[in-house]
Amino acid sequence: MQTTTAPAPAVATTHDYSAPMRVWHWANAVLVSGQLLTILFLKVIVSARAAIPDMQREVAEKGGQLTEQQGRAIAHVISDRIWSWHIWLGLTLAACWLLWTVLQVLDPAGRRFGAQLLAAGRRYRLAPPADHADARHELAAKLTYAVFYLTITVMVLTGLALTWADDVAWLGSIEHSVKEVHNVAMYVIIGFVALHVAGVVWSEITKDRGLISRMVSGERRA
Ligand code: HEM
Ligand code: HEM
Repeated sequence: MQTTTAPAPAVATTHDYSAPMRVWHWANAVLVSGQLLTILFLKVIVSARAAIPDMQREVAEKGGQLTEQQGRAIAHVISDRIWSWHIWLGLTLAACWLLWTVLQVLDPAGRRFGAQLLAAGRRYRLAPPADHADARHELAAKLTYAVFYLTITVMVLTGLALTWADDVAWLGSIEHSVKEVHNVAMYVIIGFVALHVAGVVWSEITKDRGLISRMVSGERRA
């Protein structure tokens, strides 16, 4: 009987990122972008409070009168609608963060982020001069991821605290400081996203073709 050998696949699955980790990455990216968008709408695009004089003018043109207090009440309703998006996206982001934590525990030891960060540090220390620049680049990328993971942890914990600040007395007593931390963490996240997207696009078009599609399909050309 004639036996046929199957042709070698054109692509081989890499073990860079597991499928759940890739799902986590894109879900996390969408949710973080969504959170930033809610703040952009609240503070810049809609900015309901700053629109009170416009509301008063429009109402006056129609023959009515809108007091400052009434304007504030309307602005509050508009802002609340955007805040509820922020909170629901935030709770989903918190679930996503929990998924990442569980994946870290379940993933084989070598694929855990901590192990990869240590390995990148070791490679950088031991790299021969010719590979030094590449090893430094890899370590720098991993360090930015470490900053992101720390910051998103702060964001989720402070976000959850703010969500229940009105219901839990001791959370209410620290609400102001928690808000400050939540606010500052946002700038770190914005910095990370800008650097990260520019970095992966730069790597993709220079020396690491297929980097982005690997984060989608997990496959590297053989
Ligand atoms: C809000 C947006 C985003 C966030 C928060 C984010 C976050 C992350 C994090 C934390 C990692 C590290 C995964 C790990 O090694 O543990 C990562 C890797 C990666 N991300 Fe993103 N990402 C975002 C958007 C994007 C976009 C828009 C692209 C594509 C243009 C992208 C492409 C990649 C790729 C290719 C990697 C793997 C890079 C490598 O192996 O070093 N990300 N991302
Ligand atoms: C990338 C992620 C996030 C960004 C950029 C972000 C940004 C912000 C900013 C700038 C504020 C305004 C703080 C102030 O008034 O000074 C805020 C408030 C808030 N955030 Fe987030 N946040 C994020 C994630 C989360 C998460 C995960 C939760 C958890 C559910 C959350 C829940 C809240 C709540 C409850 C408030 C207070 C809303 C209010 O004052 O009515 N956020 N966030």
